Amino acid sequence: MKDKSVIDGDVIVIGTGIAGLFTALNIDSRYKVILISKTTIEKNNSGLAQGGIAVSVNKDIHFEDTLKAGCYCNNQETLKILVEESSENIEKLIAYGVNFDRDDQGTLKFTREGGHRQNSILHVKDATGKEIIKILTEEVKKSTNIKIIENVFAIDLITEENRAKAVLCIDEAGNKMIYQGKAFVMATGGIGQIYKNTTNNTIATGDGIAMAHRASVKIRDMEFVQFHPTALYNLKEGQCFLISEAVRGEGAILRNLQGEAFMGNYHEMKDLAPRDIVARSIFTEMKKDHRPFVYLDITHQSEKFIKERFPTIYQHCLSQGIDMAKQYIPVVPVEHYVMGGIWTDIDGKTSMEGLYACGECACTGVHGSNRLASNSLLEGIVFGNRVATAISSYLLKYDISNKVLDDSIDFYSIEKEDKRDFSINIGKFIKKLKDIMQNQVSIIRSEAELKKAFIEITIMKESLRKNQQETIAYYELNNMLTVALLIIKAATKRKESMGAHYLVS
Ligand code: SIN
Repeated sequence: MKDKSVIDGDVIVIGTGIAGLFTALNIDSRYKVILISKTTIEKNNSGLAQGGIAVSVNKDIHFEDTLKAGCYCNNQETLKILVEESSENIEKLIAYGVNFDRDDQGTLKFTREGGHRQNSILHVKDATGKEIIKILTEEVKKSTNIKIIENVFAIDLITEENRAKAVLCIDEAGNKMIYQGKAFVMATGGIGQIYKNTTNNTIATGDGIAMAHRASVKIRDMEFVQFHPTALYNLKEGQCFLISEAVRGEGAILRNLQGEAFMGNYHEMKDLAPRDIVARSIFTEMKKDHRPFVYLDITHQSEKFIKERFPTIYQHCLSQGIDMAKQYIPVVPVEHYVMGGIWTDIDGKTSMEGLYACGECACTGVHGSNRLASNSLLEGIVFGNRVATAISSYLLKYDISNKVLDDSIDFYSIEKEDKRDFSINIGKFIKKLKDIMQNQVSIIRSEAELKKAFIEITIMKESLRKNQQETIAYYELNNMLTVALLIIKAATKRKESMGAHYLVS
């Protein structure tokens, strides 16, 4: 196979957040799973999730709250599955050893977040994602059928007649290799890094969505990009520290510059309204006050309670000179989550044979146009589990002749293209992209701004195409531009406001 090494597995899972880890763990252990991380297994967005994981304490209420937050354009079939299968998958997490907070009697404690009418969110203080990822990572490391590959970047799927056959990868030294398998799982997470300000980790560059798109796999709902209402305001660009919605779940109040509680002016659920509404309301108040932030006030709670319930947030704010037990926290909405992604059916199967997707990069449709708080970790385990089950039965019937890579496949045409100069400055391109997305494709959009953004990013993409490089930074930037264009195109097509897509003329 040319000059590249070919590595063989049964299932190739790309991404090591909650969805990738949970899928890998639940695939029948007779199959060899290769789990690929572009950095290290610990580095992912799921680990940053603070507030918790929703459980269907009351299935009807959970179903309706998710539907209402999503503006009723959710896929009700997948949403029903999410609700029905929440408890059994949470039980699995507990069995692996996830130690959710309990009261003195040992009963699980539930909190509340925006859009929820009941306390239905399990948590591990304010570091729920971190605890879950730690436990799942330990399990994966114990598994004898899962091989972890770190610091390897997946460039593109190698396909034949709409069937996924392999994935072309590159390591930091520029060595290329091919992972060949029978089934492939995209679990590459979010897209936050295309925005100037995001809660997402630096790895969130939309790689899986871009890769799937290049392979003509169906993508949908990309216009729905969620902004979390409360990231800690700071002047530095980039990854922003999240102030969990669970802080509002414990009674914190949003206040404008004059100290007025304003959410009652916007929604009957006040500070616990769905996220799109809270983010837009904050944006409006910021504009009125000509200030780049509003305040979050939890000073009614005791210092003891705050330190015990939100130790991470308390310490972080303190390190920034804010004692949240005594002072208001300056907060600002920032990019947090994309509801759209690689379209999947109820088993996480994509429009390509042998290719599955789960977690944030997938679009099961459960979230509609605006995700209900704490449903993302839940979606990762429920659909990760379904992907694992579907793959296990797919492999039972698998015709082995499908797997062999045809040596004549033009598996990486980019290499044959003329390589011109290498003059583009990737850092400058990324900065420009982030500025455009932040200013023109944000919480409130207009057709004119979307059009301008489309033209500017298309020019950047073309310039990148003419200046190809074989580096991870280049491939990442290419993915970021691809995903940005997918968002803009989808946003341009949707002429009415809905959930996280809000248009003004
Ligand atoms: C948060 O803790 O506010 C984030 C949880 C989520 O994104 O659902």
